[in-house]
Amino acid sequence: MSKIRLGVNIDHVATVRNARGDIYPSPLRAALLAQKSGADSITIHLREDRRHIKEKDLKDIKSKLKIPLNLEIAATKEMMEIVLKRKPSFVCIVPEKREELTTEGGLNLSFKRSFLKKIINKLKKVSRISLFIEPNLKDIQDSKNLNVDCIEIHTGKFCNLVNKNKDYKNELNKIKKAINLGNKLGLEVHAGHGLTFKSAKILSKLSGIKEFNIGHFLIGESIFMGLEKTIKKFRKIIK
Ligand code: PXP
Repeated sequence: MSKIRLGVNIDHVATVRNARGDIYPSPLRAALLAQKSGADSITIHLREDRRHIKEKDLKDIKSKLKIPLNLEIAATKEMMEIVLKRKPSFVCIVPEKREELTTEGGLNLSFKRSFLKKIINKLKKVSRISLFIEPNLKDIQDSKNLNVDCIEIHTGKFCNLVNKNKDYKNELNKIKKAINLGNKLGLEVHAGHGLTFKSAKILSKLSGIKEFNIGHFLIGESIFMGLEKTIKKFRKIIK
């Protein structure tokens, strides 16, 4: 089985910093330590409301990082212009609602579809493009029609069931089918949202996933284990 790449999402280092409006802890320092500790890429989500990552973080991290930077964005004109200016290696287009605590579900690919198509075509010239979608077959076929390079499957529902020790078989089956169709259509398949040591271990046994993007649990666990050890433990689990 081929190695799954580990994308480390450091948004919540910025969340802690912003809680005090101070300059620490530094997302740049976290990005560089994650790189040193074995992350394959660094993920940041520049939200419209800038609740965690700010544009200065994007600029600083992009200029110092050697591994690919994966920028999550909503499909808006402002974000399109930021990507064209900063040229991150990877872009993942995600849905965004101001009132949500986190990215609660996958994209609605029918909403403002012609604009979504326009953004994808423009951004493909500078970055690898991924769409964050639910594990449903229609959205996967639709992502292929939108001519993206990758899909990232939203694993939130699956992870919730795992965390609550509930039966996750149906949700795992949906994810399996989504991976198979994605691979069949020639899309690179990623997975993310809510992943912990336990849920990442279960999903890493499936073949066909090329990348995990993990943030909230990983940063939280770093309080107890340190960022380096936490990343190394994830690396071991998903190899
Ligand atoms: N992948 C995508 C596309 C995301 O938007 C997020 C964060 O919302 C993640 C992965 C990481 O999720 P988590 O922080 O729950 O690990």
